[in-house]
Amino acid sequence: NSIKIFCPATIANVSCGFDVLGLCLDNVGDEMVVRKTKEKGVVISKIEGQKLPLEIHKNVAGVAVLELLKNTRTEVGFDIEIYKNIKPGSGIGSSAASSAGAVFAVNKLLGNPFTLHELVPFAMKGEELASGALHADNVAPALLGGFTLVRSYHPLDIIKLPAPDELYASIIHPQIEVKTADARSVLKQNIPLQTAIRQWGNLGGLISSLYTNDYELMGRSLHDDIVEPLRSLLIPGFEDVKKAALHAGALGSGISGSGPSIFALSKGKDKATKVANSMAKVYDLLGLEYDLHVSKIN
Ligand code: HSE
Repeated sequence: NSIKIFCPATIANVSCGFDVLGLCLDNVGDEMVVRKTKEKGVVISKIEGQKLPLEIHKNVAGVAVLELLKNTRTEVGFDIEIYKNIKPGSGIGSSAASSAGAVFAVNKLLGNPFTLHELVPFAMKGEELASGALHADNVAPALLGGFTLVRSYHPLDIIKLPAPDELYASIIHPQIEVKTADARSVLKQNIPLQTAIRQWGNLGGLISSLYTNDYELMGRSLHDDIVEPLRSLLIPGFEDVKKAALHAGALGSGISGSGPSIFALSKGKDKATKVANSMAKVYDLLGLEYDLHVSKIN
């Protein structure tokens, strides 16, 4: 009647896939304990690690679970405890971890009335509360694991993609907060055709590389000509960190989700660790504080 789960961090966009591509990290995330209660309704009884609202309608986990419960019948209620390790506004899917984790846990306690794919729109309600946008590129990989593609939003069509075995992510989080809503407000609503052509060429190349384990193709494809030029201005030392990652042998590097975290992808854990250390050196020189992660994609 109670369940304890790991709620993984995620990297959305992955350079060329703004709002459609995301990947799930193996060893970075929150924990959540959810209990069935006799009284109907949802209560968030505890949040540790971060200051976040306990009120159901103001909390992404609460909103996501309410959406799930709207779509099923149950006579029981739920009590949620959240142990946050992922900082809000870090760019590695803090709100998605809570939204996706909560609906996953409640679904499980109800005997799995919904498939993982069917949970995605419920979790998206949490994302809407957090950022004002119903994007699925964090909640989909958090629920399904590995890489996911949002082929379409209307109707919602989520495709699970393979994650090459030797692929690792290095992530550095400068200790500033960038709100997704703010990072979205700097974007342009229109893009030139030539830019779009480059972007969808790269996205196709990146997705192809996941199926063929073609790391060189992955490296050639990890570019973002649309969002990164605008958002990178919000991130201290972005160009230097990216350069350091590529110089240390990363396949590619870019903004994680809406930032300010910067990610790099590498072949092999040793390379990813070396890349992470090179990224960290840039912030050491700048005297900036940071969190550093190396994770398999799973
Ligand atoms: N795709 C979203 C964005 C992800 O970049 O705004 C937010 O984490």
